[in-house]
Amino acid sequence: MLLLTLALFAVLFSAGDTRDALRWLTSFHVIQISSFFNSTWVQNRGSGWLGDMQIHGWDSDSGSIILLKPWSKGNFSNDEILEMEELFRVYFLGFVREIQERSSDFQMEYPFEIQGIAGCELQSGGAFQSFLMAGLGGLDFLSFKNYSCWPAPEGGTRAQKICALISQYKGICDTVENLLIKTCPRYLMGVLDAGKADLQKQVKPEAWLSQGPNPRPGHLQLVCHVSGFHPKPVWVMWMRGEQEQPETQRGDVLPNADDTWYLQVTLDVAAEEAAGLSCRVKHSSLGGQDIVLHWGHSISIGWIILAVILPSLIILLFFVLWFYRRWSYEDIL
Ligand SMILES: *[C@@H]1O[C@H](CO)[C@@H](O)[C@H](O)[C@H]1NC(C)=O
Repeated sequence: MLLLTLALFAVLFSAGDTRDALRWLTSFHVIQISSFFNSTWVQNRGSGWLGDMQIHGWDSDSGSIILLKPWSKGNFSNDEILEMEELFRVYFLGFVREIQERSSDFQMEYPFEIQGIAGCELQSGGAFQSFLMAGLGGLDFLSFKNYSCWPAPEGGTRAQKICALISQYKGICDTVENLLIKTCPRYLMGVLDAGKADLQKQVKPEAWLSQGPNPRPGHLQLVCHVSGFHPKPVWVMWMRGEQEQPETQRGDVLPNADDTWYLQVTLDVAAEEAAGLSCRVKHSSLGGQDIVLHWGHSISIGWIILAVILPSLIILLFFVLWFYRRWSYEDIL
């Protein structure tokens, strides 16, 4: 197992570009969101994530895993997937029943929401770090570390009581530990390998410029849009010549529907300083050929002025000439 890990690690982390491309993918986690609306009505949502790419859903009606990618199974056999499904079904049923039965003991008032995240991460030394955290109503509630349950300060005495309760269920704790420490790393390595071609695919970004809402009088907001790229790491900066503009504001990298990414990078400038600025995009798919878009606002104003004034001038010139000639003829006659 250790050898396999190190070998895969060496492959994943050898070439510089590949390393950057895959670093954000070296964790797998599942997310649970359980909304308890009233004493009988509860909604469970589950999902599985490779880094920040969702690769599994959970159909809570049929109690089955939804494989969102052709390679979402990783190196698990169909039987292993069925086993996991059974495990999650039993878990959700038991979890909901336990919470509903004990809601008054723990003074839980409907409606409330419980969130959980659990998984493992491959670290740069080749070791795995596993994690499990739960939140209540968006606040930290408890976590698992070093084989035991730790109540979060925000969880108060309620979290302490629940941790004490969980610790009594030795069998469940062992199963969870096994999943986090053994199953998760094995699955992560398998799925990184199975999805390699897809995860490493290089898709070039498109970029365009627009003007945002004016931030304050006399200022412009220049917006550089970069879309459709894969993998996720990207460098986008507003520049004046070769000089990076430190006031550049970078948005979040957002997912497009087709598994590519979108980023918006803005710069507020005094209107007269917009000329000469450009947006530069570096991405692994571009092979060193950065995209550079020049802010054309001042040029386009120039063109508008030219397009309006030049014809007016020509017409004016004709009138002047015409009047001049008439005037000259009248003078002669
Ligand atoms: C829970 O909410 C559902 C949907 O609003 C409703 O049909 C049901 O009667 C409620 N149950 C209780 C016990 O309030």
